[in-house]
This record gives sequence, structure tokens and C-alpha cells, in this order.
Amino acid sequence: MSARIIDGKAIASALKVEIKQEVENLKSSGIIPGLATLLIGENPASHIYVKSKHRACQEVGIASFDHVLPADSKLEDVIGTVNKLNADRTVHAILVQLPLPPQIDVDSVLNAISPWKDVDGFHPANLGRLFAAKDLSELSNDKRVVPIPCTPQGMLVMLQKCGVTIAGKKAVVVGRSMIVGKPMAALLLACHATVTIAHSKTKDLEGCCRGADILVAAIGKIHMIHSGMVQEGAVVLDVGINRQPDGKITGDVDFDSVKEKAGWITPVPGGVGPMTIVMLLKNTVLLANSFLKR
Ligand code: GUN
Repeated sequence: MSARIIDGKAIASALKVEIKQEVENLKSSGIIPGLATLLIGENPASHIYVKSKHRACQEVGIASFDHVLPADSKLEDVIGTVNKLNADRTVHAILVQLPLPPQIDVDSVLNAISPWKDVDGFHPANLGRLFAAKDLSELSNDKRVVPIPCTPQGMLVMLQKCGVTIAGKKAVVVGRSMIVGKPMAALLLACHATVTIAHSKTKDLEGCCRGADILVAAIGKIHMIHSGMVQEGAVVLDVGINRQPDGKITGDVDFDSVKEKAGWITPVPGGVGPMTIVMLLKNTVLLANSFLKR
């Protein structure tokens, strides 16, 4: 039987309506949620991503501030800009678009962002809290708010919206990046899945993937996950955004064959991608709200 498609675009649109209302509520309390982006250099894909983040902010009424520095910037220039944004009371959320030019040390930059304004959840204090959480409820309560990295959070919302039970399931995350693979594994663990992180050095990757009830592909290689790697009825989430020779965007999963075996599957485009941007809006509202409470 063919898999059910998880329509990220539709879920994201519905969430935007809710977020727009939350922004209205914040505005009634005198707060205009503000997101500042910092882009260094001329990476064309990064420019496109940042532009779409600003457009999404505009759609829901979030104020967005666009900062761009030249590709040959020094670490001090970047940290100087981050510090200004940390001190700016109109900015509740800061996003430094990755990757950075090679001369800029990414850890130094992520460390410089105030954990209270860390919209990506990449600050070590926030990532540490995510990894330490025994349960999701530890991440957002009266005492603390931990922003969860946007792509993993988007995938979690998709699983919840589809009514997929995570507790007790075998989850395999293919890819160990700081942006997606590692935080996704931590998030699934906090939801009580049994989690494996697989990567390029994993022995018997195919067998490992076949054991997954929930399979997350975050590799960056066109159609690397084929139907022989997927368990009958598995939930398959595809984070890949790869450009084919014909210019079309496609995922890490061979959608056409895998959809005949999976229970649920995300398409590319229109799956995980739109959810990532909406989670950025959600985290901005979360941080603006916590500003109100501090
Ligand atoms: N580059 C690719 N994905 C991301 C992301 O989620 N956040 C940031 N800051 N940069 C990225």
C-alpha cells in the first residue's frame, strides 16, 4: 500500500495562522516580536533562505531586521554585531545564518549569542539542556524556556500532527550534524524513542535503517535512502534539499520507491522545509514571550 503523505506545507500554513494570532496578543501587551538575521558573505543559497525567513516574518507580523556583513569579515566584526543585537531591546531573537566563511569560528559566534535570544537553539547552553532533558516538559515550563532547533522541532510537530506514537519506537537518524541530526536524536530521546544516530562510517547502514520505525534522512545526498533500506509501514522524514541536474529540488529519500513501502512519508519540496521556517517564527514568539516574563 502507498504511504500517506505528510503535507508540511499545509501543516505550516495552519500553524502560521495560530502564530499570527499570538503575535497580535503580544502586540496588545506592548511587545512587537523581533527577529534579527545576520548573514556573512555571498552564499547564494543562504541569501535565498534568509529572504524567505524575512518574508515569513512579514506574513505573521514579526518585525525582522536584516544584517549582512562582507565575506572577508573578521571574527571581531561578527561578534561585535552579535553583541549589538544582544543589547538591542527591539530584538528578541537572533539568527546567524550558517555556514560561515572559513575564517570565522562558528563555535565562537554561536557562543556569543545570548541564550535568551538564541532562536536556532544552537547555543551550547540550550543544546546541552535539550540533550539533558529526560522529558519534553523539562524544556518549556515556568522556570525555563529552551528553544528547540527549528528543523528537528518541525519534524516533531509533523509526527504529532499525524498521530504517530514516538515512545518506545525505534528511531534511526541518518546524519550527525549540529543543525539537524544530533538535536533530532536528542528530541526523539526526550520523547522516549530508542534512538540510533547513523552516519557515513556506520557499518551495515542499510540494515540499521531497515530496523527503524521512524527514519530521519538528514544526509545531503540525493536519493540515498532507497526502498531496500525501509521497513514496511515506517515513518520516513526527509530533510534533504538537493538540486538535481535539471534544477529541480529533491530529497535524500528516493520518494517514488520508498512511498510504496513506508506508512508515512514527507515529500521534497513541501515537507520538512516549510515546517523549519514556521518553527523559526514559533521560537521568535516563544523568546519574545519569555522576555515579557523576565
Ligand atoms: N543553515 C542551514 N540550516 C540552518 C538553520 O536552521 N539555522 C541557521 N542559522 N543556519 C542554517
